[in-house]
This record gives sequence, structure tokens and C-alpha cells, in this order.
Amino acid sequence: MPEQQTVACVVGARPNFPKMASVLAGLAEIASSLRPVLIHTGQHYDQAMSGSFFDQLGLPTPDVHLDVGSGSHGAQTARVLERFEAWLLEAEPRPAATVVVGDVNSTVACALASVKLGIPAIHVEAGLRSFDRTMPEEINRVLTDAICELLLVSEPSGVVNLRQEGRPAHTIALVGNVMIDALERQLAEARACEQARKMGFDAGSYALWTVHRPANVDDGKALAALVDLVTAVAGKLPVILPTHPRTRQRLERHGMWSKLAEASGVHVSEPFGYREFLSLQATAGVVITDSGGIQEETTVLGVPCLTLRANTERPITIDEGTNALIGPVGGDGIEDALLLHVDAILAGQYKAGRRPDLWDGRAGVRIARAIDAFLVDR
Ligand code: UD1
Repeated sequence: MPEQQTVACVVGARPNFPKMASVLAGLAEIASSLRPVLIHTGQHYDQAMSGSFFDQLGLPTPDVHLDVGSGSHGAQTARVLERFEAWLLEAEPRPAATVVVGDVNSTVACALASVKLGIPAIHVEAGLRSFDRTMPEEINRVLTDAICELLLVSEPSGVVNLRQEGRPAHTIALVGNVMIDALERQLAEARACEQARKMGFDAGSYALWTVHRPANVDDGKALAALVDLVTAVAGKLPVILPTHPRTRQRLERHGMWSKLAEASGVHVSEPFGYREFLSLQATAGVVITDSGGIQEETTVLGVPCLTLRANTERPITIDEGTNALIGPVGGDGIEDALLLHVDAILAGQYKAGRRPDLWDGRAGVRIARAIDAFLVDR
């Protein structure tokens, strides 16, 4: 009997977990002969940022843990590169391919280690472009797509971008959105957990707010603007603000944490688990964020999303979904723009949006078939 082929499936940071859970579910469903080996780089490591996601998403315990932890971009990326390469060199059997998802430092580092050893890398969520190279994720996306041999894309803009970058058509497949697979699998349980009601809020009566991008939280001016923005919106409806460790550290360092935490109408908390956060999104009146995945989830939930960025690599959430770009927190006129949108939403005068094609909960299966076919053809 031929030896079973393995594929190294890499996760590192919080947004990777639901995506990889969907890829693994797809591989299990098509019952291919491929055996996934799950690698956790350890880019995120807290129970709140990592552990609870494994439990709730049904991800298996990782086969391999690289324990890289936090660090500067260079240091963190280098640690992943070095440790993943060392693992690949020893792995028995040698993986037939490496699957990476999203745009975090672990994504680019593992793709690079893999292809340098002649093991093809496959990118799930390929082709997304903000065209903003000040974003670390944009650099990770561009580099990852340049070296992966199979590019699996979540929305049509990704195909256009990859073709414009000269990637051959046969390496690209529009497969849909794995983030939405995870949402579809978890939504009933998420709704049943009624997280907002447990916190004393009625459906539709609150804003859910997340912010963690370097451009929005890494300097004092942006943080001061953020505190003003949150306080202004909290004057209109209560704001639930689960706080990413990066945001909290920066606020504390600049002496602004207690001002925000004690502001009237503002309810700060630790990051929520996947299911609790999905529950809060599903019944929010408005979601305000600088995350990528949340722009997609709100589009499918039909909940208004106001994005605190100047650009998005997920334009379909604006063209077809419920997303609107407001601008970065420190930008001119942002408070007026944000309050104008919040008023429109509260008055019921905001677009309803629709679900994009192929965001149907079946992307993982299409991806599994594409990976299987790619390896058979080699
Ligand atoms: C990373 C990703 C970003 C993604 C985000 C989701 C990159 C370049 N960025 O950014 O794309 O949207 O994850 O959360 O890969 N920390 C903890 N516990 C943890 C992990 C981090 O306390 O489990 C703290 C550390 O002090 C760290 C800081 O949070 O310095 C930031 O973490 P890091 O992984 O560097 O980047 P994120 O901002 O989380």
C-alpha cells in the first residue's frame, strides 16, 4: 500500500484558527488519502487568544507546537522560519505540501521555509490586497502569494489582483470564504449562548467595537483620538469593547486605560472566545472595527460594520455587504463621519447588503478538493 501523504497545516494567530478549522473539516469530509499534520507556531499563545479557540472550533490538539511567542516583526518571523524549517527537515514522512492561511507573520514565514525546501506551499485566502504597504499584513500577503504554488481565493478581487501580478491562471482558484464556513458551523450555538443578554444588553441596542491595528493603537495621538471616538459613540448607545492585548498595553502605557474603562456607556472586557464574540456580533446594532475577518462576518450576518481604516483588502464587503470605510482613528473628520453613520444606522437608514457568492459554508470542501487535485497532478 502506498504511504499516506501528509500536508503540514499551519496556524499561528487568532484569525487563523477558524480558517484552518474549516480546511480540516473539508479534508475530513472528502475523505482523501491526505493526512493533515497541524502545526501551531505559537504566535498567539494566551488562553483568550488561542486556547479557547481550539476548544470551541473543534480544532485537534496541534501535532507540533513551535512556541515562538511575541516579538518584533523581524524576530517573530525569523523564529517561525527557523523552527518550522527545522521541523520540516526532520518530519517523517516529509510533507507533500504546506497549507498556510491568512496574512499573519506565521503565514509568510512557513510558506518561505517550505518552498525553500522544495515543498510546495498553498495559500488559503490568497490575492487580497489593501494596496497599503504600511500594513504588515499587506507585506505578508504579497510575499506569500509570490511563492505559493496554489492560490485559493475568497472573493473575485483576489483573482484580479493575482492575475495583475502575473500569477498564471492555472495556479488560482476562487473557492469562497473559509471564515464563513466556521461561522455557519457555529452560529446556532453562538446565538444560543446569548452573550449580550447575559451582559444585560438587548439585541440591536449596543455597538460592538474592536481595534488592534498598529496604525490605530501604536501612538499616543491615535490612542487619544480612539478614546474620544469611543466616548462619543457611547453617548448614543452602549459600547462593548473587548480589548486585544496590544491595544490594552498601549492604552496603559499612555495612561489612557482607566479613562476609557471608566467612561460612561463603555464596557471594556478581555477578548471573548470565538462563540461568545460571534454571538455578540449577531445581535449588535453596529460593529465598529479595524479587523479583516469581522468585515466579512458582519456582511454575512447582515449587521452594519463601520471600519476604522482608510482601505480594505476585502472590497466585496463594501460593494455587496454591510461594510463602510470610515478612516483611521486619528484621521481628519473621522468623528463626524463615524457619528453620521451611527445615526443613520440607529434611524434604520443603512444598507442591508447581501451575501457574496461562494460564502456558503462550503469553501473548506472546495479547498480540500483543490489541494487533493493539485497533489495528484504533481
Ligand atoms: C496579529 C497579526 C494580525 C492579526 C492579529 C489578530 C501579524 C503581523 N499580525 O497581530 O494580522 O489581525 O494578530 O489578533 O501577524 N499578546 C498576548 N497574548 C497573545 C499574543 C499576543 O498578550 O497570545 C500580546 C503581546 O504582547 C504582543 C501583542 O499582544 O506583543 C501583539 O501580538 P502580535 O502577535 O505581535 O500581533 P497582533 O497585534 O496580535
